Amino acid sequence: MQLRGRHGDPQQRVQKAVDQLLAGEDRPRVLEAGCGSLSRIQLPTGRTLVGIDIEQRQLDRNTALDEKILGDLQSFTPPAPGFDLILCWDVIEHLPEPIKALERMTAALNPGGALVLAFPNLWSLKGLVTKFTPYTVHALFYRFVVGDRRSADEWDQFPTVFRASIAPGRLRKWAAKHGFQLVYEEVYEGPVQVGLRSRSRLLDLSFAALGLVSRTLSLGRLDLGLSDCIQVLRLPDGVVNDNDGKAVS
Ligand SMILES: C[S@@+](CC[C@H](N)C(=O)[O-])C[C@H]1O[C@@H](n2cnc3c(N)ncnc32)[C@H](O)[C@@H]1O
Repeated sequence: MQLRGRHGDPQQRVQKAVDQLLAGEDRPRVLEAGCGSLSRIQLPTGRTLVGIDIEQRQLDRNTALDEKILGDLQSFTPPAPGFDLILCWDVIEHLPEPIKALERMTAALNPGGALVLAFPNLWSLKGLVTKFTPYTVHALFYRFVVGDRRSADEWDQFPTVFRASIAPGRLRKWAAKHGFQLVYEEVYEGPVQVGLRSRSRLLDLSFAALGLVSRTLSLGRLDLGLSDCIQVLRLPDGVVNDNDGKAVS
């Protein structure tokens, strides 16, 4: 299923897709890649939840994890046994080598396993501004416009690299090349933008105009207002990946 636009809460739809994918698994093994302090997806009680993060501070804050790995997603050695599900939410935009991280994650997946990727859409106002402005602008925006006043200990914004290789279309091609099925994709307006629009009529109209103008000028191919993307990728049962995350059968 592929969705573009504004249709309520995408997280609920991803939850449904994940529930379906895990329906046959008694005790699924799940990896939160770049786990930060929380999981966005509800998991069955019998699961084993492993979190990997590059910051010890983030691992310490996360109380949902059964096992914690301090490591870099771009170079970690996949633990054995493998995982039935890998969740990677708002992480790949922070990585200088996101494709290496995706290959590491692929190598950590069991056959039939699924990878959920949530990331900003490069081809949106948010994506382009994030890519082409320094982190200070990003941090000031979250602190003073969005109103995130958390202390340094709890601060959840991180420098963003935003490689072009993680644009939704490029990731779709990467996934196909690695034997994945795209079971769900949604390009949507993320919660930060929705929140901003609800605070001011002028902002609301400006974002509506941005969407309309970009769709019209691109003949429907581009909507600069769709700030975020989620892809759910499944490795079919017969596909095994080698240690470099490349499909071998
Ligand atoms: C924006 S937070 C997202 C956290 C969490 N997934 C969520 O949905 O709230 C990005 C996380 O990725 C982690 N991270 C950044 N670079 C990483 C890397 N190279 N390897 C592992 N984790 C990394 C950060 O420490 C941070 O916890």
